[in-house]
Amino acid sequence: MRNLTEKNLTATALERISECGDPRLKEVTTALIRHLHDFAREVRLTPDEWNVAIKFLTEVGHITDDKRQEFILLSDTLGLSALVDLIANEGKSAASTDSSLLGPFYVDGVREMPLGTDIAGETAGERVIVRGIVSSINRKPLAGALIDVWQAAPNGLYDVQDPNQPEKNLRGKFRTDAEGKFNFRSVKPASYPIPFDGPVGKMLRALGRHPYRPAHVHFMISAPHHRTLTTALYIDGDKYLDSDAVFGSRQSLVAGYRSSSEGGSAIDALEFDFILDAEAS
Ligand code: BEZ
Ligand code: FE
Repeated sequence: MRNLTEKNLTATALERISECGDPRLKEVTTALIRHLHDFAREVRLTPDEWNVAIKFLTEVGHITDDKRQEFILLSDTLGLSALVDLIANEGKSAASTDSSLLGPFYVDGVREMPLGTDIAGETAGERVIVRGIVSSINRKPLAGALIDVWQAAPNGLYDVQDPNQPEKNLRGKFRTDAEGKFNFRSVKPASYPIPFDGPVGKMLRALGRHPYRPAHVHFMISAPHHRTLTTALYIDGDKYLDSDAVFGSRQSLVAGYRSSSEGGSAIDALEFDFILDAEAS
């Protein structure tokens, strides 16, 4: 019988999966075992510390249900979701708009609305027009592109978190016109904390981190023969732009308000042109 030591245990664990018939599962698990073992060796992990970690992961599981996904928050706050997103987009054209995290508050099935609709309904807050053009990387405007948008209210809560907001508040679906243009009205978004009343919030506090995301509006844009773009616009000047708790903000996605007027009254506009990459062939 082989005597297991700190030095040979990793190789022994890897040998155990040598018969795995799924090459990708084998590749991923091999790297995971190697990195986990190297991590434990590097920090000289103690049994007490490992028990704390197990208890933490158990709490993450216990608070998770179909409304609250603490594992996503954990992945987001460790930067893993943003990294996976960057890797997924590494082959895309440099000319296309950068992607940004989907986040846990996307809701499928919002109805399509006429261009110009105010998605904020009765929500109190300063009104803004959001407008722009969707085009392909050769700058051809894309007529009929579908734009799904969602954002938090000025109180920092999404409809699904706030019993005082109607269902589907601050969500909309629009189609670009013949010139690839879209526009809708909303309220100015505010920076907000990700849910921090659970184990991930405890972790952030222990690490001396804040839970805030800079003010943003989410977009998911799709058009035939183009890669669907999941992204967000971040508001220029927000104090959390450089310390987004989930590492989603990008310089290329920062947009500022511009004074505008509509029907003779002044209103700020948030303008951004989105460029969709061609579908991967
Ligand atoms: C969001 O922007 O909606 C979000 C992203 C990651 C974690 C929590 C919220
Ligand atoms: Fe968000």
